[in-house]
Parts: sequence; C-alpha cells; structure tokens
Amino acid sequence: MTREIVFRRLTKKESEILTNEVRNTPNIVAVPINRWRSFDKMFVFEDEKGIGGVCALDYFGKDWAEIADFIVLPRLRGKGIGRKLFDKAFGYLKIHQYNIYIVSRNPLVIGMMEKAVFNIYQNFFQMPWPVIWHSTKKTLNLAVMTEFVRKLFVFRKKTSLVYGILRKEDYGKNLD
Ligand SMILES: CC(C)(COP(=O)(O)OP(=O)(O)OC[C@H]1O[C@@H](n2cnc3c(N)ncnc32)[C@H](O)[C@@H]1OP(=O)(O)O)[C@@H](O)C(=O)NCCC(=O)NCCS
Repeated sequence: MTREIVFRRLTKKESEILTNEVRNTPNIVAVPINRWRSFDKMFVFEDEKGIGGVCALDYFGKDWAEIADFIVLPRLRGKGIGRKLFDKAFGYLKIHQYNIYIVSRNPLVIGMMEKAVFNIYQNFFQMPWPVIWHSTKKTLNLAVMTEFVRKLFVFRKKTSLVYGILRKEDYGKNLD
C-alpha cells in the first residue's frame, strides 16, 4: 500500500487503536470508540502498517464545522503528515463554505491556526454562540468528563486551550 490520505469511514479496529492512542496524549481529552464510528467519512492517512493519522470534520449549527479529533500516531509524527491532514480538512471546508472552528493546546496545531489566519480567542465565552453550544454539548459526556479528571492528575498540564475561528466571509483576508 502507498502512503496516502483518503476520505473514508474508520473500521472498528482503527477506532480502537485511535481511542487507545488518545488516552496517552495530554492534548486531546477523550474520543470514545463510538464517536470515531459516528463519522461517515474523515481524512485518514494510511501506509503499509495501516492507519497513521486522522482528522475529522464535525458539523454543527447552520454552516459551522470543527476540525476535530486530529491525531497522528507517534511513529509518524514530525514527518509532515499532520500538516497534510490539516490542509485537506481546511481546504475541504473552505470549498464547501463553512465557518471553521478548531481548539487546541498543542503548539503545532496553534501554529497551523495562526498560519491559516484564524481569529484566535483565549476566552471560551467570547466565541460565537453556536461554537459555545457545540463545545458544551461535546463536553457533557461521561467518558469525556472522566478522562478530563484522570488527565488532570496524570499529565498535570498547565497550558491553556486556544480557540480558532475562521468565518467564511474572512477567507483570504489578512493574507499577504
Ligand atoms: C499535532 C499533530 C497532529 C501534528 O502532526 P505531525 O505529523 O506531528 O505534524 P507535522 O510533522 O505535519 O508538523 C506540523 C507543523 O509543525 C512543525 N513541527 C513539527 N514538529 C515540530 C517540532 N518538534 N518543533 C517545532 N515545530 C515542529 C512542522 O514543521 C510543521 O510546520 P508547518 O505548519 O510550517 O508545516 C501530532 O503531533 C499529534 O498527533 N499530536 C498528539 C495529538 C494532538 O495533540 N493532536 C492535536 C489535537 S488539536
């Protein structure tokens, strides 16, 4: 198999691999197996060893989408795969004219938001209402809340979340 990014649904086995991997990262709280399986399609990097990374598109509100559940397996990190997955997701959402939302505490992802000229928010409650509602609903999940508490103790991570918003009317603005 060649190394490539495809747009497809995950298998149960792949969902299990990713859920386990998320348990080991301080930067994503939790992605239960049924959440991976709930996406009809997502961007998936695969090579001869199987799945290597993913980036999902989580639609909400009238015309919003979150670039969500973005992870590259440790064996492949730092080789440009995350950048390619991000560009695919970002390009797809722009073509389809969505307002785009992304949240991260990972400096690599924050760098991607900045390069793509997202409007950056540090304060959750300053974001547009559809984003606040969507994020709150996602958090109100027992598996997510349990993992949140476990990771607070295990990782003792002090970095703050950074929120990025790119509205469709702002595509292309602020670019040199
Ligand atoms: C965040 C993540 C998806 C990035 O994927 P990746 O394949 O490792 O990233 P890439 O190799 O494509 O690098 C992305 C960018 O970071 C830069 N970068 C990569 N490793 C770096 C390092 N150690 N130090 C500084 N910059 C680095 C790259 O140069 C690239 O820059 P560019 O935007 O100018 O192209 C991946 O590291 C990961 O899965 N991390 C754990 C889970 C996570 O935090 N997910 C994000 C949740 S929002």
